[in-house]
Amino acid sequence: MSLRCLITAGPTREFLDPVRFVSNPSTGKMGYALAAAARAAGWTVDLVSGPVSLPEPDGVMVYPVITAAEMLRQTDALFGPCDVLIMTAAVSDWRPKVSHPQKLKKTGEGLSVEFEPTEDILATLARRRRPDQLLVGFAAETENLEAHALAKLDRKGADLIAANSVAGPHGAFGSDQNKLILLGRDGFREVLGPGAKNAVAASLITRLAALLAARAR
Ligand code: CTP
Repeated sequence: MSLRCLITAGPTREFLDPVRFVSNPSTGKMGYALAAAARAAGWTVDLVSGPVSLPEPDGVMVYPVITAAEMLRQTDALFGPCDVLIMTAAVSDWRPKVSHPQKLKKTGEGLSVEFEPTEDILATLARRRRPDQLLVGFAAETENLEAHALAKLDRKGADLIAANSVAGPHGAFGSDQNKLILLGRDGFREVLGPGAKNAVAASLITRLAALLAARAR
């Protein structure tokens, strides 16, 4: 089956001024591994990527973005024709309410910054999805992994969520290894890994292909 897949990867950056931003330790490895695995499965792949230091996977269209707002705009623009959306990006949940156009000068005093929420990309796209599209979220959790992931699955209106532990020094951020617990509605649960991110990514793509094939029947 020839499928079109849209993947988001990496962190976003939310700027306080031209030289300071809020972000997170995501390196994009899982999203890039998924893009390569989807391409290897013969899918057409669009990859919307926050700032990372990874080579572009062969045969994949990469769309670089920096902020959550840019990621929403770019992902939204590519969402219509996609069969599968996989949101591995660690989107920043807040941005400074004011982004100063010039570098803030230090005063010797402390600094309080007011933050406002960013858009929830997955939840926004889920509201305008077609029923034949498959939406897969990633839940980065430091505790109560499955309970928190299931709550997100529901709240965001995805079909599946890959629960991903980011706790401690062996968490998923930056690691070459990963373990995912893939959770769906109606009690669907499958453990992928632990293993190299490339191998876990290939397993996830195989699983999604099987789900899509079953739906098409
Ligand atoms: N996500 C998104 N837009 C955001 C935040 C997250 O689309 N502004 C997506 C992520 O790409 C991921 C899923 O939502 O697929 C869950 O992200 P996660 O960071 O685990 O959860 P949050 O929604 O940020 O919730 P919390 O911070 O409370 O854990």
